[in-house]
Amino acid sequence: MSVKNSMTSDFLHSAYAGESMAHMRYLIWADVAEKEGFKNVSRLFKAIAAAEQVHATNHFRTIDGETQGAAVTANGVFGYNSTEENLKGAIQGELGEVEQMYPVYLNAAKFQNEPEAQRSFHGALEAEKQHAALFQQALDAVKQGKDADFGTIYICPVCGYTVVGDAPEKCPVCGASRETFLKF
Ligand SMILES: [Fe+2]
Ligand SMILES: [Fe+2]
Repeated sequence: MSVKNSMTSDFLHSAYAGESMAHMRYLIWADVAEKEGFKNVSRLFKAIAAAEQVHATNHFRTIDGETQGAAVTANGVFGYNSTEENLKGAIQGELGEVEQMYPVYLNAAKFQNEPEAQRSFHGALEAEKQHAALFQQALDAVKQGKDADFGTIYICPVCGYTVVGDAPEKCPVCGASRETFLKF
């Protein structure tokens, strides 16, 4: 098993559930943005949904060995609203992860000497910082009735690192090479 301690295991389950909901929520909000004519905001939601899938996958793999069903609680943001409101919800969710959830989970994994969980939480924490900033840029545009102005959005397939415009030669978080990045 990749995880020895039940506390770290609980946090991985919760993070997996949170990322799974974020993935789906962003795909739903991408459809709303598309219908409202915000094509770039829609693309941003789809790109970041892919990053959340990477995080969910990493947490899921790290939970390795758990084959039984489990009831899981996770924080989530809900609401099928306008794109402006949806972006506010997205920022709220990302900031909750950056300021509360992942720092606590990461420190628990360090304290419990769980290297794989640390790697999984660390990758997510770093990516969510970018997500919060990108959603804020999108919100600033949408508040003025405009679509966001983004170039190509790149997602690291290993850790979910997210960058707009030019992808680095190697992922600054995990070292994956640029050719492997997903493009949106
Ligand atoms: Fe995120
Ligand atoms: Fe990466």
